[in-house]
Amino acid sequence: MIGALEHLARPLLAALDPEGAHRLTIAALKFAPLPRAGKDHPRLAVSAFGLNFPNPVGMAAGFDKHAEVPDALLRLGFGFVEVGTITPQPQPGNPRPRVFRLDADAAVINRLGFNSQGADRALRRVARRARRGGIVGINIGANKDSSDRIGDYVRLIERFAPIASYITINVSSPNTPGLRNLQQASALGDLLARVIEARAHTTRDATPPPLLLKIAPDLSLDELDDIVDVARALRIDGMIVGNTTIGRPPSLRESARGKEAGGLSGRPLFSLSTRMLAESYVRVENAFPLIGVGGIESGEAALAKIRAGATLLQLYSALVFRGLGLVAEIKGALVDAVARERRDGLSDLVGVDAAAVTAEPWPQ
Ligand SMILES: Cc1cc2nc3c(=O)[nH]c(=O)nc-3n(C[C@H](O)[C@H](O)[C@H](O)COP(=O)(O)O)c2cc1C
Repeated sequence: MIGALEHLARPLLAALDPEGAHRLTIAALKFAPLPRAGKDHPRLAVSAFGLNFPNPVGMAAGFDKHAEVPDALLRLGFGFVEVGTITPQPQPGNPRPRVFRLDADAAVINRLGFNSQGADRALRRVARRARRGGIVGINIGANKDSSDRIGDYVRLIERFAPIASYITINVSSPNTPGLRNLQQASALGDLLARVIEARAHTTRDATPPPLLLKIAPDLSLDELDDIVDVARALRIDGMIVGNTTIGRPPSLRESARGKEAGGLSGRPLFSLSTRMLAESYVRVENAFPLIGVGGIESGEAALAKIRAGATLLQLYSALVFRGLGLVAEIKGALVDAVARERRDGLSDLVGVDAAAVTAEPWPQ
């Protein structure tokens, strides 16, 4: 039924500007009666950071920035949903237009700049659904005009730690000037020490939510060395690799739209983000699990991410081009892959190709 609805809606959504199409999709998820996806095959189950995921396919941050529809997304078959990025205070983000579809490349460029309804509204929504179960992670970021960005993360941890399944520290959006400097070793060390302390004093005896770090795919390998060192030393629970790229691969077909400023996602991000995932995997040495994100648009791409080192997956851009049916397609392909390779579960495939991927020529 969701397939038929999507089929009808696709030409309408494609004719709208991408942000308008996105608002309509959120409204439909809020108000339309949705079918419930079938129960997941047991082979898809994944345990990571102390959480049990029914399947490894997550909705990436940025789709449900204000935590309006996490339950609808879980119902449609995602194994987990990451809402946000949420900033402490509401802020409008950059002027429109700020999202561009590159149809010929199956890609998106966005420079939204953390448009956020702010922590209060998101917190009320997440708290209201907290007892329903299902894994809902909270992705947090600093306000653009904040005079104390680390303080922003601390405040958000204090507010969300009691109700989040996990919390993602987003220091990798390219659209808030200077934000990515928080990935530099000394700043990152300060930030992570303070958020870990905030988590400890907020949750006290209760089980604290895992803390994940979301990094950019545009880091040098020296920078990645430092980040993994800091993350391991401070015992972060996991890393998400990664965010959108400020790079523009020469293969982009939509050369005019490709010049728009912002972060590029979707198909052209696949090779770089998968390379950075494998580079992370070999450095992390199983100290914590990784979530692989960037250009997943098929079962084959999802499997390649797992083989490169991802315990869990997230996607966003391909849903714009392929629709929500892609989630079931990926899950089916993963069940088949586990059977074909005669493994017990997906975890047996995590990272099996990581070393080989790091030996390939650097992706263009
Ligand atoms: C329109 C748009 C908005 C996004 N907003 C956020 C965000 O607020 N926070 C964040 O961490 N990532 C954000 N992302 C990045 C995605 O979570 C993901 O890391 C990236 O798009 C790569 O995955 P994909 O190729 O499957 O889209 C956004 C991506 C898109 C396309």
